[in-house]
Amino acid sequence: MKITIAIDGYSSTGKSTVAKQLADWLEYIYVDTGAMYRAVTLFAMRKGLISDGFFDKEQLIKKLDAITITFVKNPSTGKAEVCLNGENVESLIRTLEVSSFVSPVATVSEVRAKLVEQQQRMGEEKGIVMDGRDIGTVVFPNAELKIFMTASAEERAKRRYNELLERGDSITYASVLSNVIERDTIDTTRKDSPLVKAADAIEIDNTETNIEDQFHTILQLAKDRIAKR
Ligand code: DC
Repeated sequence: MKITIAIDGYSSTGKSTVAKQLADWLEYIYVDTGAMYRAVTLFAMRKGLISDGFFDKEQLIKKLDAITITFVKNPSTGKAEVCLNGENVESLIRTLEVSSFVSPVATVSEVRAKLVEQQQRMGEEKGIVMDGRDIGTVVFPNAELKIFMTASAEERAKRRYNELLERGDSITYASVLSNVIERDTIDTTRKDSPLVKAADAIEIDNTETNIEDQFHTILQLAKDRIAKR
């Protein structure tokens, strides 16, 4: 029997890496919900609805019906990439600029309602690993396995900084760290679906754990839950 696996936690805790590994191993669908919030943010930026110190929330809400988010599989990596109105925007949504506007966009209840509804439809058949901030609390409160991932802000900023450097972005570690801390604050204090550990989630702090060990721990938990079904 297939189960639903919810992986929540802070930014840059390696949620998507472990979620994808699990989905590949179990032959489940993997959905990166952060990519969906990022795609809506890119839409808002392109329409001039968000910039430094400015956010026209009402106009974004009015335009939500003009946004369609889908995923396509990249044949060479096997990874699902996000599309905004049919355009593959996977690499465009990973910039520090999108990262700095995504948290305010994710506070908008109408945006959340639209994306949560789509996420719940994607998980109707189970056999899904979904990562985000509210998967175990709001999207799939009945998920059989819930993981909540944490790591120190400095370690997470170091990981994100290295990722951005590899992409060729010219940024400073200090700006990445302040973005990580700012996003943590907005994500944990917003009114609608704040980032919070579900009561029945298993917390994993990976500040010092290697990815391989962590994957095996979570895979074992998933196998135990599947055996119980
Ligand atoms: O996982 P990520 O860093 O790509 O997520 C980007 C932002 O989207 C993050 O700051 C919070 C928001 N988000 C959310 O509010 N709910 C989700 N389920 C996923 C992401």
